[in-house]
Amino acid sequence: MTLKIANLSKRFGEHRVLDEVSLDVEAIQSLVLIGPSGGGKTTLLRILAGLEIPDSGSLTFNGAPLAFDEATLQRHRRAVGVVFQAYNLFPHLTALRNVTLPLEKVHGHASAAAREIAMQLLRRFQLDAHADKRPAALSGGQRQRVAIARAVAIKPRVLLLDEPTSALDPEMTAEVLDMIRELRAEGLDLILVTHEMGFARVVADRVAFLAGGRIIETGETARVFGAPVSEGCRRFLATVLKY
Ligand SMILES: Nc1ncnc2c1ncn2[C@@H]1O[C@H](COP(=O)(O)OP(=O)(O)OP(=O)(O)O)[C@@H](O)[C@H]1O
Ligand SMILES: [Mg+2]
Repeated sequence: MTLKIANLSKRFGEHRVLDEVSLDVEAIQSLVLIGPSGGGKTTLLRILAGLEIPDSGSLTFNGAPLAFDEATLQRHRRAVGVVFQAYNLFPHLTALRNVTLPLEKVHGHASAAAREIAMQLLRRFQLDAHADKRPAALSGGQRQRVAIARAVAIKPRVLLLDEPTSALDPEMTAEVLDMIRELRAEGLDLILVTHEMGFARVVADRVAFLAGGRIIETGETARVFGAPVSEGCRRFLATVLKY
């Protein structure tokens, strides 16, 4: 993917959550956003997903500028996959229906075709035995994997993930991370916010460190983790990698 973010700012009331954020990456497959709580990672990801409109600045994804009018945003939202920390699924619908619903309602697939796409994905990720269960009857890891299956069922141009494992215990975290890694290996482009530094190291081509609404440092993954140049990033990594 190619992503150009130029001088993106966003405030909520008096609070400037993103402050002239710029980022320019080309020919990468996965970008990982790291940084302290409240730094603006979710806000930036939501803007990239077309769910939030910046106050100023511009965004170009794979060569196409994103205009922030409602019609363009709607088109953009249909073309990206989004997975959040938790509560992704409709609680009253089965796993299968959660996957088929956007295929039918948003992407216009006939119900038999939607079912076929969904079952194929659920089988592929060993979730077919759970197809008829509602989210409450699934483990946290299964729920997130269904959410990811739903996000990729539409064949998104990019998959955006905001701390998809932060509500999970280690074993479930591993099964969700395995799935993300597999999708990446298949060529899916990813933008991921995570506190799992070990995973970030494995999966990211590029890392951006976001703090106080600014991108303080960005670079190739091994370089950022091995030799961060900014004091902020160095301190953050020293803290989170301490144990
Ligand atoms: N809808 C909103 N209204 C008001 N303030 C908001 C809103 N969304 C986010 N904020 C504020 O913006 C700042 C950045 O929030 P954001 O969620 O983007 O940070 P983050 O880096 O994702 O943090 P975390 O690691 O805790 O998820 C925070 O101070 C937050 O309180
Ligand atoms: Mg967040």
